[in-house]
Amino acid sequence: MEAFEAILGRRSIRSYSDKQVSADAVRKVCNAGLYAASGNGMQSTIVVAVSDKEVRDRMSALNAAVRGQEDDPFYGAPVVLAVLAKAEAGTCVQDGSLTMATLMLAARAEGLGSCWVHRAKEQFEGGRRPGFVR
Ligand SMILES: Cc1cc2nc3c(=O)[nH]c(=O)nc-3n(C[C@H](O)[C@H](O)[C@H](O)COP(=O)(O)O)c2cc1C
Repeated sequence: MEAFEAILGRRSIRSYSDKQVSADAVRKVCNAGLYAASGNGMQSTIVVAVSDKEVRDRMSALNAAVRGQEDDPFYGAPVVLAVLAKAEAGTCVQDGSLTMATLMLAARAEGLGSCWVHRAKEQFEGGRRPGFVR
């Protein structure tokens, strides 16, 4: 797929089949995300791919507990890519955001749907709060 097709054709997808995505496709998309530019070339972003159903469901339940909402924030997607960035990097938010954008376009190019789920942010920040259960 041409780059412009991926850019113009990408839309946020909020309904997924439970068909598992191949490990090769997940790796390809993650690798593309890691090619995103980063401030000072710091490469502070880490992408964690979760395709194990039990872990993925636990992440969903944790989000529900943090947010007090019952529904699955990941819309039933079989794979969740958590984009983390080291807080020490001055451009961690920008770096992470650019990685997110690149991941979504790469997913589209690979024929996969995606959606940025900001709602999941707090559950990863929770590790820094006293009393947060890991
Ligand atoms: C910073 C950011 C946060 C977002 N958070 C969520 C979210 O928590 N849940 C969700 O369903 N979509 C989320 N989205 C997706 C937007 O709702 C979506 O991009 C927007 O409605 C435009 O639709 P499109 O992506 O199909 O062009 C987020 C997008 C961005 C850029």
